[in-house]
Amino acid sequence: MPSLPNSDELIFFVNGRKVTEKKADPEANLLFYLRKVLRLTGTKYACGEGGCGACTVMVSRYNAKTKTIHHFPATTCLVPICSLHGAAVTTVEGVGSIKTRIHPVQERLAKCHGMQCGFCSPGMVMSIYTLLRNHPEPTPEQITEALGGNLCRCTGYRPIVESGKTFCAESTVCQVKGSGKCCLDPEERSFANRQEKICTKLYNEDEFQPFDPSQEPIFPPELIRMAEDPNKRKLTFQGERTTWISPVTLNNLLELRTNFPKAPLVMGNTAVGPSIKFGNEFHPVFISPLGLPELHFVNTTDAGVTIGAGYSLAQLNDALCLIISEQPKEKTKTCRALLKHLRTLAGAQIRNMATLGGHVVSRPNYSDLNPILAAGNATINLISKDGQRQILLNGPFLERSPEANLKSEEIVLSVSIPYSTQWHFVSGLRLAQRQENAFAIVNAGMSVKFEDGTNIIKELQMFYGSVGPTIVSASQSCKQLVGRQWDDQMLTDACRWVLDEIYIPPAAKGGMVEYKRTLIISLLFKFYLKVRQGLNKMVTGFLLGPEKEVSEIEDSTFNHLCVDPYQHPQDPVGHPVMHQSAIKHATGEAVFIDDMPPINQELFLAIVTSTRAHAKIISIDISEALALPGVVDVITAEDVPGDNNHHREIIYAQNEVICVGQIVCTVAADTYAHAKEAAKKLKITYEDIEPKIITIESHRACQHGEMVVVIKNMKSGVKLPRFESQLCEVHVEGQEHFYMETQTILAIPKREDKKMVLHLGTQFPTHVQEYVAATLNVPRSRIACHVKRAGGAFGGKVTKPALLGAVSAVITSHGTGRPIRFILERGDDMLITAGRHPLLGKYKIGFMNNGVIKAADVEYYVTGGCTPDESELVLEFIVLKSENAYYIPNFRCHGRPCKTNLPSNTAFRGFGFPQAMVVVEAYITAVASQCNLLPEEVKEINMLKRISKTAYKQTFNPEPLRRCWKECLEKSSFHARKLAAEEFNQKNYWKKRGLAVVPMKFTIGMPMAYYNQVSLGEVSFHPNPIYLDGSVLVTHGGCELGQGLHTKTIQVASRELNIPQSYIHLSETSTVTVPNAVFTAGSMGTDINGKAVQLLPSQFCPKWGTRSLHSHPSSLPLRSPSPSSPHLPPYLPQNNPAFICFEPLSECVWVCVGVYVCIHQLALKDPCISDSLLHFSQGLGEAGMFMGSSVLFAIYDAVAAARRERGLTKTFTLSSPATPEVIRMTCADQFTDMVRSGGQGSI
Ligand SMILES: Cc1cc2nc3c(=O)[nH]c(=O)nc-3n(C[C@H](O)[C@H](O)[C@H](O)COP(=O)(O)OP(=O)(O)OC[C@H]3O[C@@H](n4cnc5c(N)ncnc54)[C@H](O)[C@@H]3O)c2cc1C
Ligand code: FES
Ligand code: FES
Repeated sequence: MPSLPNSDELIFFVNGRKVTEKKADPEANLLFYLRKVLRLTGTKYACGEGGCGACTVMVSRYNAKTKTIHHFPATTCLVPICSLHGAAVTTVEGVGSIKTRIHPVQERLAKCHGMQCGFCSPGMVMSIYTLLRNHPEPTPEQITEALGGNLCRCTGYRPIVESGKTFCAESTVCQVKGSGKCCLDPEERSFANRQEKICTKLYNEDEFQPFDPSQEPIFPPELIRMAEDPNKRKLTFQGERTTWISPVTLNNLLELRTNFPKAPLVMGNTAVGPSIKFGNEFHPVFISPLGLPELHFVNTTDAGVTIGAGYSLAQLNDALCLIISEQPKEKTKTCRALLKHLRTLAGAQIRNMATLGGHVVSRPNYSDLNPILAAGNATINLISKDGQRQILLNGPFLERSPEANLKSEEIVLSVSIPYSTQWHFVSGLRLAQRQENAFAIVNAGMSVKFEDGTNIIKELQMFYGSVGPTIVSASQSCKQLVGRQWDDQMLTDACRWVLDEIYIPPAAKGGMVEYKRTLIISLLFKFYLKVRQGLNKMVTGFLLGPEKEVSEIEDSTFNHLCVDPYQHPQDPVGHPVMHQSAIKHATGEAVFIDDMPPINQELFLAIVTSTRAHAKIISIDISEALALPGVVDVITAEDVPGDNNHHREIIYAQNEVICVGQIVCTVAADTYAHAKEAAKKLKITYEDIEPKIITIESHRACQHGEMVVVIKNMKSGVKLPRFESQLCEVHVEGQEHFYMETQTILAIPKREDKKMVLHLGTQFPTHVQEYVAATLNVPRSRIACHVKRAGGAFGGKVTKPALLGAVSAVITSHGTGRPIRFILERGDDMLITAGRHPLLGKYKIGFMNNGVIKAADVEYYVTGGCTPDESELVLEFIVLKSENAYYIPNFRCHGRPCKTNLPSNTAFRGFGFPQAMVVVEAYITAVASQCNLLPEEVKEINMLKRISKTAYKQTFNPEPLRRCWKECLEKSSFHARKLAAEEFNQKNYWKKRGLAVVPMKFTIGMPMAYYNQVSLGEVSFHPNPIYLDGSVLVTHGGCELGQGLHTKTIQVASRELNIPQSYIHLSETSTVTVPNAVFTAGSMGTDINGKAVQLLPSQFCPKWGTRSLHSHPSSLPLRSPSPSSPHLPPYLPQNNPAFICFEPLSECVWVCVGVYVCIHQLALKDPCISDSLLHFSQGLGEAGMFMGSSVLFAIYDAVAAARRERGLTKTFTLSSPATPEVIRMTCADQFTDMVRSGGQGSI
């Protein structure tokens, strides 16, 4: 390898300021650089793999050839800083700030309530801002497209999109959409008028600052001069371990390619970056030819189009649009197929970063473009020092045959895409777990050429993605089909042969083998139909609905009770008040834990977790790790000074490990990179122990199956009679919390009295205090936990922060005595903290032919994991709430928590209720099916009717429940919609619609008296709660998790003290000011803390009166006497998450060795902006959570319609989540039959 010169200076601009980095490290990404070097913490880390958009910034580059400036969004976690030479970066801080002026994008996102925890907000701002820089008056479609790469776990997206739409030329918000009718209809206008007491406005557009695009910062002139400099030279950046070289001419590049044949060419870094991070790859040299003009061009000829390898996928999209608009339709079939897939490939950020060349060469097995390029006979134009040549982008290339590969010294210059012809059809087909920003489960590129004027196949090509380690070609089947007519018999043979040729082994990575095989032939069938339509033949028997490429977000409105017109104008209760921190969220100035400035001498922590489900720890060798640069300490169980096993929760694994992901050691070092490197060098030897219990089934099958906690029972009515009924099973799988801010802790030891201060985002600071104190063996009074805010929690931050707090506290107390910053990487967070309890429900139901249920006997089994955590409480919830809204005279249920060798499951929004309710609704639906009744009829028949005692002996009046049910059916025009769905289903064989309504009885509160007593709400006014200037400081025990708790308590305090909200401040939650507070969970936070605030003035300062108060009232810790609601409908928009949280479509997968498969964000499919199911939510926390189940049962309804049409009338169970796989395989048909029978049967 030739010797490398010294490092050059890296020059780029950030927010208009020049950055000159003399020691640019090729391994550093922009996210790290912004946050840790420039201390611009508005840009957030949430996934580190380009999939969530929290780290989005705008990158601007000047093109010296076209003399234009190109602005694009980029995810900084995948941008190496060295790639930025000559670029201008705009972060959320550069867009606007509270200190100077906030930008209209920030203002509108905040005022439209487009945020809750606010962790995703800077990314949202940057995506909309970048769009506006390119399109000052965007269309609504451009808004949704721009936000497609940004995830939000809190808002349900609707308000975010709506804030973006305020920049569109025309207002698109319909005010009576909630009624299911149209405001343009004159009759409906009067309908809208009739709803006098209902308000739909959550913000006032007149308050918005106007948006003036001419006021945006200019592109730095110095960068224009740099770009136009005729004497540009090759740049080299030398890091600690790696070198980055940016050539400026093609010859330079070819020379480098010859000298460093193994060095990757870094273009968008969207393939290289993840493979380094997750694939543990190391490259000593990187070559970055991104700016070379020779790689950026479009050339059209009569034969087709050639596109430079350096074009980003977004530029490719624009180029294809232009070609399609200029060329006749028949010539652009390949271009149109590519365009369709380009719109859903990843999110806008990745499409703007990833390049055509990078995509073609990296050849991911899930590639959406390569199968189409291959089917369209594309060629790759290569260049090396030896000259140019062309290779086919065909099966052998995609299957990585050595003879079809690039030579090591070659680079891709461009890709040529020939035009299609009249008798040539090209299509791209894909199926993914979500429309956008999700890898395909199976995709395909197919093409067929016919003998002119006939339906005789002249040439056929089929390429499939995601069915093996590479894209595969069904070349043998295609060959066999040449000369055949395009008819049904051909299709049947084609399906059989393709199934034969494309073999997916039963143990294939990713599973879903039967489903994938079904998709292989289903996609072929779809292509067959499309081509038949193209050939203008009538297709009888099957009707294809019109294809909707990207679902648009339908406008909707919130309806809420208007405040009394006589209410005092200053009284905020009842008004939709903006989140107290909204503007700070939107400007990135809201401080989350890792945004806190560095503390002198702080260390970073990396963890080492068990790789075995159940094993003895034979040895731990830390010597190599300790010897690495920057490493300060390695901690194991031996170093815990106090209790390493507090309430059966193990802090550090000792002697044995009981699940994959259990923390065995931690490494502290001066940087996270050093800590992580050292963690890789730790050597742990294990000896496996039997049994390894991974599933509920294995728990039951195993003689040793233990419970994590005690069994819970509930019984009501007369002695359960013996009844003959089938025992049925329903599975409800687990779920990942995916709060956007991963668990983060800042632990600062104090010099005196063994004190320690912890800053963290938790729902339960008292619990953290308890665990840290026990682990360090100090009184709790020495441990201070502070919570300013958390970037989402959803139950995942109730108990787990205590464990992680204790883990970090040990290292601060051990020798080092230095502060610790502990930020869990997304993968570790998902692995360690587990999630919702998977549940197996078994039931026997006794019912009459008229749908009346007489008896139910239900058993629940939950996967508790390896330690108790909150399993007991979750199980108690499951059992206590398991009657839902129904009266079943003879009812018995019991729940059994299974101990497994898996990370311990924990609280999750709904806390067992959703799992139990899926079982209840499943048997209601089953009874309906057996009695030939509609599910809603059976629900109504069995719904609680009169005041009675619940199974847990509480008197319950069902009148509001029944009224709500009736109103819901009426207002949603349920029966009319049901008829319309039925009509649709009769006309469409391949598309079905379903509708479901689910009643719900949810009691808030905890089944343990202790929690209710202690959680009655602590509000303490500091010694001087009302300061001499009249400002008020309120402190309570609830944690701000994005739900707007502080906003709501300020509203209450404002009303009760009769002062403007602006006088009231809520600083943080702390164990110092409010001791022994209970968790903020279970939808009780506002009720108990709000009630306490409401009671406060009467006991404390009856008249606030004047602005300035000269008395000094004494401190008054206050407890509210009952958790009844202080009538708080004020802060409306944070109700959306409930709906989104049910996620009836996403799944978590465990494999038999106990490894959580889904440890990347990209594998986990949280709904994104195009998943429009998220737009109807209106509930409250836990209770609203189960509203999402209506989607599950609507899917059931649609699947039932499909099955009926196929002659399958037997009652079936749809377990949760209803993934595409479950839905497809339950809709059994000729395709699933063919797969299941090993290729027999016909289509
Ligand atoms: C969050 C995320 C979501 C994604 N979603 C999808 C999706 O839904 N569908 C899909 O199909 N893909 C998806 N991808 C993959 C993405 O399309 C590819 O990573 C991307 O196209 C690679 O391009 P790049 O410019 O970033 O390549 P780089 O990472 O820069 O380079 C990749 C490889 O190509 C080589 N290379 C690059 N350019 C040349 C050249 N001109 N000549 C020779 N070799 C070259 C490099 O040496 C390197 O080995 C996703 C990626 C991410 C990160
Ligand atoms: S996309 Fe960068 S952190 Fe998620
Ligand atoms: S507000 Fe979007 S993730 Fe919390």
